[in-house]
Amino acid sequence: MTTPAIGELNPPARLLLGPGPANISPRVLRAMTAPLLGYLDPDFLKIMDDVAVMLRHVFGTKEGFTLPISGTGSAGMEAGLANLLEPGDVAVVLDAGFFGERLIEMAGRLGAQVVRVPVEWGKQVDIDQVRKAIQSHPRIKLIAAVHAETSTGVLYPLQELSKLAQERGALLMVDTVTSLGANAVNMDSVGIDYAFSATQKCIGAPPGLSPCALSAKALEVINTRKTKPYTWYLDIGLLRKYWEGGQRVYHHTAPMSMVYALREALRMAIEEGLENRFARHTRNGRALRAGLHALGLEPLVPEPNCLYQLTTVAVPQGIEDTPFRTALLRQYNIEIGGGLGQFRGKVWRIGLMGESSTSANVLLLLSALEDLLPKHGFEVAVGAGVAAASKVLASAS
Ligand SMILES: Cc1ncc(COP(=O)(O)O)c(C=O)c1O
Repeated sequence: MTTPAIGELNPPARLLLGPGPANISPRVLRAMTAPLLGYLDPDFLKIMDDVAVMLRHVFGTKEGFTLPISGTGSAGMEAGLANLLEPGDVAVVLDAGFFGERLIEMAGRLGAQVVRVPVEWGKQVDIDQVRKAIQSHPRIKLIAAVHAETSTGVLYPLQELSKLAQERGALLMVDTVTSLGANAVNMDSVGIDYAFSATQKCIGAPPGLSPCALSAKALEVINTRKTKPYTWYLDIGLLRKYWEGGQRVYHHTAPMSMVYALREALRMAIEEGLENRFARHTRNGRALRAGLHALGLEPLVPEPNCLYQLTTVAVPQGIEDTPFRTALLRQYNIEIGGGLGQFRGKVWRIGLMGESSTSANVLLLLSALEDLLPKHGFEVAVGAGVAAASKVLASAS
């Protein structure tokens, strides 16, 4: 057998303006190089506690149980469904995009009876339609929805869903993968029972952990299950014994470096102030929208239901999706995202998430688009995008 001759690792430092991962701060990267500790080392337990406390703050819960589940956002999704539902339970799921479909697929796989509430991609939900779906079923265990649908760029209202869940005594589970850090989640005041997120978007860490928060009611449901969750690795009852209480019990080896990264990212978010962070995402998203509009690229989702951290636009007439995005990557070192599912090849997804959400990045992307779009056959008024975005930024500062 020949010995593999592999060169030194040298990935380029891209500007990540897609749907995540976003760029991360050098502070977070540095935190990841801190010395490893054992999984039950008292100094590591203290770091875990810091993370749990800061997660309570960003999720907006005083008493809820928080932990970062090992794995990406989908791990938090699967953990929620697998722990809160038992085979045969009825779950009402908002089907408003690619990640709503993932919730439905996962809930179906674990034997739940899934009631799907279809919502046209890119559009707001009609709450009466959810109410009707709920009324047609006598026993509803869970309502699940995506807060910020990354495939379409729509923000969904949690308060109305929570009201419906409370009326029926059902749990409310929310995917905050793209919203946490950019939109208020307010778990306690909204009445969310299970929220999960991911580290690589508006929180500002690399992918690898799924921050989760559970209400007392969700914990009670888990404690009184008739059957064990089908998954041992994502069994929250077991994970809780490692993340909470005086006597910690080993479950699996925590990914220390990722926990350090999340700790530093959360510290940065709290230093900035959550309201300031939300306002930064809004300001930069508004500037981008104005710039795109000036270039003849109309954002797909109108305000105020849009995500400012993730703007969707139709691929402009006559432009070939992949070759254009490849040119942007190769010539400008900028990544933007393509469409998913039914939007594949049809939309671009431009992220301004976490560290990537800066006014400089908005202007850089718009200048790159002004240069590249005409070269690919789509005429624009050169300078108009940057001028429109600058105006928004100036008026906001
Ligand atoms: C809204 C939403 N939910 C869930 C996921 C899945 O997260 P991950 O890819 O980290 O597993 C994503 C990923 O982009 C997402 O945007």
